[in-house]
Amino acid sequence: MRRKDGQRKRKSLRRLPEYNGGFKDHHPREHVTNKNGDAFSVVSLFSGCGGLDLGFLGGFTYLNSPYEALPFEIVAAYDNSQDAVETYHLNIDKHAYNVDLASADLSEIPKADVVIGGFPCQDFSSSGPKVGLSGARGQLYTVIRDYIKTHRPRVFVVENVPHLKRMRGGEYLEQIVSDFEDCDYRTAVWELFCPDYGLSQSRRRLFIIGVRDDLKGFPQPPTPTFASRHRPIDEALADLEAIQDETVTNQSQYFVASRATAGGGQGDHTNEAGKLAYCIRANARGRIQFHYSLDRRLTVRECARLQAFPDDFAFPYTTQRNLTLIGNAVPPIVGHAVASSIHRFLEASLSGALDDEESEGAMIRAARQLTLSI
Ligand SMILES: C[S@@+](CC[C@H](N)C(=O)[O-])C[C@H]1O[C@@H](n2cnc3c(N)ncnc32)[C@H](O)[C@@H]1O
Repeated sequence: MRRKDGQRKRKSLRRLPEYNGGFKDHHPREHVTNKNGDAFSVVSLFSGCGGLDLGFLGGFTYLNSPYEALPFEIVAAYDNSQDAVETYHLNIDKHAYNVDLASADLSEIPKADVVIGGFPCQDFSSSGPKVGLSGARGQLYTVIRDYIKTHRPRVFVVENVPHLKRMRGGEYLEQIVSDFEDCDYRTAVWELFCPDYGLSQSRRRLFIIGVRDDLKGFPQPPTPTFASRHRPIDEALADLEAIQDETVTNQSQYFVASRATAGGGQGDHTNEAGKLAYCIRANARGRIQFHYSLDRRLTVRECARLQAFPDDFAFPYTTQRNLTLIGNAVPPIVGHAVASSIHRFLEASLSGALDDEESEGAMIRAARQLTLSI
């Protein structure tokens, strides 16, 4: 089959992957606790297949580096894509639900210490329709705002594309931030360049962090760990080059196609060894990425690797459906960097509260002492 431009039509080499369970079956969850011997509860909105959620849980290895388990417990996760929910069940746990959050009764969603959510970014993306807050998807941040109003979590973490900051000269971002602040939260916007945290792909993401007004202090942005030495694409994918079967799940799954016309932002791109990969997108038609040394497109597993998913995080569908889940995700190692900052803050605020009580107690004791000695 040929396309209008004479190229062969896209077809996937392998329809479905082979897998033996998902991430959770190979890595039983390690239970870690905070200073109170407990875990911080988390509700995840727009959870997708669970990239950000895996970052909060930790307890995984990526490119031979361990990402420690963190004392967060995700009590419930919500998404309206059945593919996302089932992939979450396969790899993370059964606490994900297929719910249209635009019409959900938020009072029925559990309370939590932390709410996390990457509301849909298509309306803010530089490669989308750019309708911003006037688009139905652009308005979905109000679900997170309404959750915050209803349940008053200590902290919220909202993720989106950096283009949100530039649209209408920053007006949309200002509107969103001021809506969150009107719920009595202090906020900060962190723009993270993901290669600074070990990702082999040129990807920037915006995080809006909020802390409830009655809590002292604020989380510190995560310290870059790879800023002086970004990991190029070949460092992330070298061991997959010789694998053409499903020895590694999703490695034989990719679209077979010869190169289309050379193009700018939306055409074919051939990666280069020694450099970062192009940004992995949810829509494989948007940017077609070819391997840096082999004459083929990147496989589903290679895209998952570049998005920092551990190799036993299985994607159970056809090529395009899997690529959508992967491209939509927060890279778990970036999620882990953000989650570690939130964790440090929450731990400090637990002991901060104790310190305050102690110092208040000390003042009372000192005052008593003073009264006694008069
Ligand atoms: C950017 S993705 C989130 C990815 C996720 N944070 C991760 O790391 O994997 C946005 C998600 O919002 C979901 N979504 C879009 N509209 C929704 C709605 N009305 N209700 C629930 N989920 C929705 C999409 O299915 C998609 O999975």
